[in-house]
Amino acid sequence: MPRVKIDGTEYEVEDGRTILQALDDLGLLMNGVDVPHYCWHPKLPVDGSCRLCQVEVDDIPKLQIACNTPIRDGMEVRTQSDRVADARRGVMELLLVNHPLDCPICDQAGECKLQDYAFDYGVKHARTRDPRRPAQKAVELGPEIVFDQERCILCRRCVRFCRDVTGTAELGVFQRGDESLLETFPGKPLDNAYSMNVADICPVGALTTRDFRFKIRVWFLDDVDSVCNQCSNGCNISAGRAHNNVYRFTPRRNDDVNDTWMCDAGRLSYPALREGRLETAQLRGRSVAFNEAVAAAGAALRETREAGGRIVGIGSPFAPNEDLFTLRELLGAVGAGPGLFSVPLGAGDDILIKPEKAPNAAGARALGFVESGDVGDAALAIVLGHAAAGDALSSVENVILIDTHDSALASRAMVALPARTFAERAGTFTNHAKRVQRFLPFLEPRFEAWAEGDILTRLAASAGLDTDAWDVNAVSKRLSQEVPAFEGIDLDSVGDRGLELR
Ligand code: SF4
Ligand code: SF4
Ligand code: FES
Repeated sequence: MPRVKIDGTEYEVEDGRTILQALDDLGLLMNGVDVPHYCWHPKLPVDGSCRLCQVEVDDIPKLQIACNTPIRDGMEVRTQSDRVADARRGVMELLLVNHPLDCPICDQAGECKLQDYAFDYGVKHARTRDPRRPAQKAVELGPEIVFDQERCILCRRCVRFCRDVTGTAELGVFQRGDESLLETFPGKPLDNAYSMNVADICPVGALTTRDFRFKIRVWFLDDVDSVCNQCSNGCNISAGRAHNNVYRFTPRRNDDVNDTWMCDAGRLSYPALREGRLETAQLRGRSVAFNEAVAAAGAALRETREAGGRIVGIGSPFAPNEDLFTLRELLGAVGAGPGLFSVPLGAGDDILIKPEKAPNAAGARALGFVESGDVGDAALAIVLGHAAAGDALSSVENVILIDTHDSALASRAMVALPARTFAERAGTFTNHAKRVQRFLPFLEPRFEAWAEGDILTRLAASAGLDTDAWDVNAVSKRLSQEVPAFEGIDLDSVGDRGLELR
């Protein structure tokens, strides 16, 4: 492996990488070694157009762009010399010649690379007297993306994303020289399943999403690590939350799962975390106190067991591994067979979107749940979620439903108990590639609701079974000890990138 010296420190790097790639591989880029860059992106082909990433290399007389200079064994790179700083200041001045001075009303302020680098390189004023080039504002490029043409610095990241990632090529840079403008091709709006990623990769406030635009200043948000639950890919996301509300989902980089992308459907799924919820416990369609409903469900479970009635458990591919494991334990304790489940299906593609429209079907399989809706002659069913239950339960007299959202099943169940969504508790999902990934809570429930596993444990206690209070960390540890596929995998050990099942 080649060895290179960067700012006096020697590193071993992978062969065939450019200077920026090597810094990125080492985790040092803008995290110990600052090489500002606009057009380079770790998941897009090199463009080399912004010229901001210039560095000194060995004794080559001219500065080199770090994004397109391959590493050589023995190479010496200087990223912080006076010459480099001068060159960066010069590039910044040129980029700002036509850029409007509208940070106070720009939605990108607070997470804008132009703002950050202008600050870092001390570009305090313009030396031009000519007015800035006029360009269009608030252009609708497609259903999800709004474009401020005057803010664009022509880095072409968005062009390369549509050309090389989605293969849809809606965007191009038209005209020449200082007349150059980013636009969509005539009659071809920016309308693909991943279009909103261009707002993430645009380093300035030129591309914004219609959904998030002007909703809240980004410095009021804190980002919580989570995992999208809309399909079995399990894209890693950050939930931007403030005041017990979530304002946006953005992709979180995980090279093993979603690179730096997510689909628009997943990104726009967050309103469902609040809408259509099952907000009160129901006893035969009547709202009752949570404990009263648990007591009624516990009594029915005990009586069915004592009478030798058949009990069936239906898991959900939306429920986390820990809660499915708790259901498995409960089913074992009452002598029921393996839990059943089914997965909603839809369209998939070759980029990220998977046909299984749930986050944890692989977890359910690994925990021994069987894909079937056949409840046979069951007298009592314990059901997690309405999505997978279908009509199969119409013959079951006593349905104990534990669900996040309201449904027809909630009104005809014997007992329906409100559960927390994945946004309101911690846990893990296992994605299509058997990668177990952790999500953390970012919302507080606005009514009494508990994790499915917690409710199952209260139900077991109420039915007279021996249980301890439910704790997701303890359950996760027990799961990793008792199920061989999960050996060594728990909420702590998965970290923020996930671990594959054994
Ligand atoms: S719109 Fe943004 S991402 Fe696209 S070329 Fe302009 S600055 Fe770059
Ligand atoms: S590809 Fe699947 S997991 Fe990823 S964001 Fe879209 S729906 Fe969510
Ligand atoms: S990042 Fe290297 S030229 Fe733009």
